[in-house]
Amino acid sequence: MNLKKHPIVIAIDGTSASGKSTNSKLVAKALGYIYVDTGAMYRTLGWHCLQKRVDIHDPKAVAMLCRKWKTSLECVEKNHLRSVHLLVDGYYPDQEIRTAEVSAATSLIAAIPKVRDWMKKTQRSCNQFGNLVMEGRDIGTNVFPETDYKFYLDAKLEERTSRRAADGVHENLAARDQRDSQRAAAPLMIALGAKVLDNSKMSSAETSAWLLAEIKKLMPPVK
Ligand code: DC
Repeated sequence: MNLKKHPIVIAIDGTSASGKSTNSKLVAKALGYIYVDTGAMYRTLGWHCLQKRVDIHDPKAVAMLCRKWKTSLECVEKNHLRSVHLLVDGYYPDQEIRTAEVSAATSLIAAIPKVRDWMKKTQRSCNQFGNLVMEGRDIGTNVFPETDYKFYLDAKLEERTSRRAADGVHENLAARDQRDSQRAAAPLMIALGAKVLDNSKMSSAETSAWLLAEIKKLMPPVK
């Protein structure tokens, strides 16, 4: 009998600028878990398509690039936070993937089923590094549906728009949310059993404290 325990995966899904990244990092740090930003993985493919001048409106061409690109996963530690990075040709495009142009391209390529299959396989393999806090749009519904730790963050559109603007990024979040939730393949939705939080009026300290308290309730008692 295989008694080896699977690593724990805490799935944090939600709309754009709902505080997923900030709070997932705070939770990962507090628990000593590894942080995985799945949006960064989709963004890396969106950026790579733009670099390689692959037509982002052509699902076949994007799927072909996704089949062939040379990637690797790396677990890095910075400021007491361990994170998994997806590298392409040995490079992690940390800054390049955060532009409005890459955001727009990414929500298009993220709708392609073959891309989502590739991402799911790659994201599931991240548990080779240990216990995870994984943020995205379909982690609780599609990537790790078996996890008991599912959360969904949201905030009012005006609040999310001003959060992004404060980061210097001006984009149409309503259009992106609509594309993310209306695509046929693994759309953004609340996973069955997920705990939902609207944090419009909450600070990240309050949101992460709520998440940690809910996670604690779900953890089996230490014997
Ligand atoms: O979280 P983010 O803004 O970095 O995500 C970038 C895009 O990738 C966004 O349009 C939604 C998409 N995405 C997705 O479809 N599934 C995920 N698990 C993560 C991101």
